[in-house]
Amino acid sequence: MTVVSIRIPAKVTLFGEHAVVYNKPAIASTIPVFIDITGRKLDDRRLLINLDGASVQIKGILFDRISGGHTVLPDDNYLSRFTSYIVTGLDICEDELKINRSGYEVSIGSSLPIGAGLGTSAAISVGTMAMCLALSTHYSTDDSHVKKMVALLAWKTEQRVQGMASPMDTFTITYGGIRYIKPWIPDTEILNSTNKFNIIVGYTPKRYTTAELVKKVKNLRTKEESVMNMLLDVVEKIVGEARDAVVHGDAEKLGILMNINHGVLESMGVVSLEHSYIVKILLAAGALGAKTSGAGGGGAFIALARNREHAIVLKNIVEAFGGKVVALELYEKGFTVSYRE
Ligand code: MEV
Repeated sequence: MTVVSIRIPAKVTLFGEHAVVYNKPAIASTIPVFIDITGRKLDDRRLLINLDGASVQIKGILFDRISGGHTVLPDDNYLSRFTSYIVTGLDICEDELKINRSGYEVSIGSSLPIGAGLGTSAAISVGTMAMCLALSTHYSTDDSHVKKMVALLAWKTEQRVQGMASPMDTFTITYGGIRYIKPWIPDTEILNSTNKFNIIVGYTPKRYTTAELVKKVKNLRTKEESVMNMLLDVVEKIVGEARDAVVHGDAEKLGILMNINHGVLESMGVVSLEHSYIVKILLAAGALGAKTSGAGGGGAFIALARNREHAIVLKNIVEAFGGKVVALELYEKGFTVSYRE
């Protein structure tokens, strides 16, 4: 029976998170950190999800000291959130292909904790969709028609699971590279830069789900609509300027724009206390710019260093303050698929 392996990069938002949910443009990129999904169809209708290679939260282990047996206590909320992207993705894929519900064995490998804020839920949605379509159609990674289908259906999966989601994460992860996102189409455009940026991508524990943070911003917009609309317009302007800066390799300008975007995210109430500190410390250590990246509430952040040596100094500072650094560069590709009989 065919076994399909999908390699999916994580992603970082450079500019425009949250505003992109309100149809404003954004800039995001894949990073060279991967989630691997391997899957095959089963003869019956069971769905077996193997988490051997993924770091997954559990609540505890209960030992019976008489029988010697034990039970693992899952964090139900966390596990159902995480698996719902797989279950929902398979439903959407099979409905699209007009085929019956089938059984699957799916194995996940990830060096990133799921839910760290680096597009891991979008990566699982893209990977599930790419796997399901591959098991039925045997497409190749370069098939542009299937790629578009993966991006759109993975976005639909995120919308169904989270309630509200922009196409930014699923489109970026599908196509890869530094992408200018046009959610109103939806489509993306690759931004080829004249420069390789010395970027630092890290994370701290994320205390809220993306859905909760998107809702928080929505509630704020309900209370202060005209002020929030002005902030969304400011983000649109920042993204427009940042697009030019990326294309021309203008790192100084990008750094300034990152700091302004971070300030807007503070105003939207999604920046955690740890991120406020880390961003200020990185700036004091000479970073050209730094900001929360993605939904916030902890999670991912990015900074821009002056050169490679400076990036390593900043990495050490982040780690001394309890953050984890996962990448010092961006990546130019999206997901890939391979087959084995
Ligand atoms: C999450 O990675 C980014 C948000 O803008 C939500 C979205 O785009 O769906 C906060």
